Amino acid sequence: MERPEIYRERRERLMEWMGTGVAIFHSGSVLHMHSGSEHKFRPINDFYYLTGFHEPDSICILTPEHEERPYVLFVPPRDPEKETWNGIRAGVDGALNDYHADAAYPQDQLDEELPKLLEKADKIFHVLGQNPGFDERILKLYQHFAAKRASCGEGPNVLIDPREILNEMRLTKDVYELECLRRATSISGEGHITAMQQMRPGLYEYEVQAIVEHAFQIRGATEIAFPTIIGSGNNTTILHYNTNSRKIEDGDLVLIDAGAEYRCYAGDITRTMPANGRFTPEQRAIYQIVLDANLAAIGEIAPGKPVDSFHKRAIEVIVDGLITLGILEGERDKIIEEGAYKKFYMHGTGHWLGMAVHDVGKKKNKGETCEFAPNMVTTVEPGIYIARDAEGVASGYLGIGVRIEDNVLVTETGCEVLTQSVPKAIADIETLMHN
Ligand code: GLY
Ligand code: MN
Repeated sequence: MERPEIYRERRERLMEWMGTGVAIFHSGSVLHMHSGSEHKFRPINDFYYLTGFHEPDSICILTPEHEERPYVLFVPPRDPEKETWNGIRAGVDGALNDYHADAAYPQDQLDEELPKLLEKADKIFHVLGQNPGFDERILKLYQHFAAKRASCGEGPNVLIDPREILNEMRLTKDVYELECLRRATSISGEGHITAMQQMRPGLYEYEVQAIVEHAFQIRGATEIAFPTIIGSGNNTTILHYNTNSRKIEDGDLVLIDAGAEYRCYAGDITRTMPANGRFTPEQRAIYQIVLDANLAAIGEIAPGKPVDSFHKRAIEVIVDGLITLGILEGERDKIIEEGAYKKFYMHGTGHWLGMAVHDVGKKKNKGETCEFAPNMVTTVEPGIYIARDAEGVASGYLGIGVRIEDNVLVTETGCEVLTQSVPKAIADIETLMHN
């Protein structure tokens, strides 16, 4: 495995927080499609974050009090027949030698070994809900030992969710995570640039999806980070449109929201462009407001700034712009207070980005808004969506949806836009599309 020290540091930090007890993480299982086929395996993020191990039905046990062997892996054993069908396994030896477990067992020995670890522990750390079948096994063990404790005074009688610390750890990215995120965002960016270059009326949305995903894959993306959104015409106004079945027409806008995943890290970029390479005056006017909101919001991202200020700033710019165009009427503050803008801008301006596209991490802590800190990564994705049947809007603006989404790393002094290479200024998009 690459960078074993990074995974060790993460486990040590978690174990320091635990103090005592036993933490149990499952890697997840292979999901089945119809007719017995299997989906490609993708490990559960917390398990992978702590182990770097990429095989299904594996279990990681952490026991900080067990000085000689605090890190134990249960893994699928070597099996020539199964490996012929599904590929080489690390096995117990690989878990020890390549993944640096202090002890390792075949996964079917869990029922025998885990009770031995639990019987003297005071608490169990486990995330419920990631693998319901496995939860049942853990809850049974917990009930067994909690009952036993009542008679013999030892054994766990507390079940704790370790995401309290894990989410906080995953929110601030370490050097290896940043390398993976840079790669994921750069591959994602190249997919968008390729699609912009090849865009033309007459293509079907699914053809554009194929262009984007092909560009991701040939650059080493391990997955797509979420279902690719290619919306043309009125479909640009549907936030999570992913049917991608319409023929793109001359004069349409096309909104592409797509991201590559690289080693379990996600890119998430949105660009909106005119199918024929030239914005109409109405498209241009809406686009420029969203671009101004995107830039103003990025200007709010720096260490020490509250994590909600960039959303507030984006709303202000969007409301000002829509008032100028006569799409919203009235006073800015009142429109914001009453939420009248939500008819055209109905989502947040960003989410944390990391192993999950909507990554873990608090935005509020006991009612207090959190602040940005170095090495957090957020998306910035304002948009305006004017449905084709929106009432009281001049007809030229109907069916226009624009979103511009970047991935932004908080630095020591401000921020770095990881997706800077993908054109977003009107002139830059038009130039790229005409070359
Ligand atoms: N790019 C999809 C989303 O943020 O929901
Ligand atoms: Mn997003």
